[in-house]
Amino acid sequence: MLSIDKNLQFEGLDNFFYVANEKMTNTILLVDDEINNIQLLKRALRGKYNILTASQGLEGLEVLKQNLDKISLIISDHKMPVMEGTEFLKRANEIAPDVIKILLTGFTDIEILTEAVNTCNLYQYITKPFDPNELSTIVASGIEKYNLSSSRSLMLKDLQELFHKTIKSIAATLDAKDAYTHGHSIRVTLYSLMLANKIKPDDEKFLEGVEIAGILHDIGKISIPQNVLCKPGKLTEEEFEIMKTHPVCSEKLVQNIKQLGDLSLWVKAHHEKWDGTGYPDGLKGEEIPLASRIVAIADTYDAMTSTRSYRNALCHEVAMQEIAKCKGTQFDPSLADIFINMSDEIKQAKENPEDFYQKYSVLQKKIANM
Ligand SMILES: [Fe+2]
Repeated sequence: MLSIDKNLQFEGLDNFFYVANEKMTNTILLVDDEINNIQLLKRALRGKYNILTASQGLEGLEVLKQNLDKISLIISDHKMPVMEGTEFLKRANEIAPDVIKILLTGFTDIEILTEAVNTCNLYQYITKPFDPNELSTIVASGIEKYNLSSSRSLMLKDLQELFHKTIKSIAATLDAKDAYTHGHSIRVTLYSLMLANKIKPDDEKFLEGVEIAGILHDIGKISIPQNVLCKPGKLTEEEFEIMKTHPVCSEKLVQNIKQLGDLSLWVKAHHEKWDGTGYPDGLKGEEIPLASRIVAIADTYDAMTSTRSYRNALCHEVAMQEIAKCKGTQFDPSLADIFINMSDEIKQAKENPEDFYQKYSVLQKKIANM
């Protein structure tokens, strides 16, 4: 029988951080107008880090901008011409908030230091003349803090990417069970995102939710027997009753992932109708979550414009006319109007769903910016 060694798992995780840190070559930026000080600092840090230097604040900001992906830590003198150290570190913090910042001062002015801690996100200050060993220790702990935080950010990025790819794969696998629904989930997600963008273009959280709900809306079809799911021809009344259970099953599956919160209600309601004749709960009008009303239009448009075993695909124009006919009964009338006004964009997206999805995906943008 297989047994899991918990200690081994922990060693693995520690090892992950260790390896990540080992691979990092840290670069330190030294900013000081006195060449002798720069030399002293270089000597104290020799052999351990890559060193970049600047003789005053403005030059330091330039070096920082050009080496944003490399610099882990900045040591700046305070008394410098043109720009004082605290001002430089404040501006550096706006450019690179995660980079560790250390201030060198010739005196202990509590007011200056308090201001620096508050405005520059200061890690530590060191008074001059400094002890090289003490400086080396402070820098090493600053670098360790930076590396740990970078490792965590990378791990979060990996997890986010893993989540996105996993839900897309599950949805694609489900679509592939029936030759007629290939690519359905991603197209529904795309049309939903396009419509949601017209309504709440700046609400990233909502758009992200719409994207996940779009991908997972039919996930509950996993529970539908293959002979019903892939039946070539119209379903009998009894079979349709079985098919109608899938939104509740989608809800239950999404509910199991606590991070997805209310999205379970959004997927549950994607077959509700504006006039209250939908299922599973017969919700009416704005009782239906906004995201579900969006997915409902996208889902129906894709179903109509895709070939099914029992009928050929309708052309884009006819599908739009059908959506217009059903506004106020099946669909939220104002959302249907917006969708119809987007007709040309939707038609283009239908021709090239993968490219359009790259453009509209909030999850992909989020991962790229992590
Ligand atoms: Fe569905």
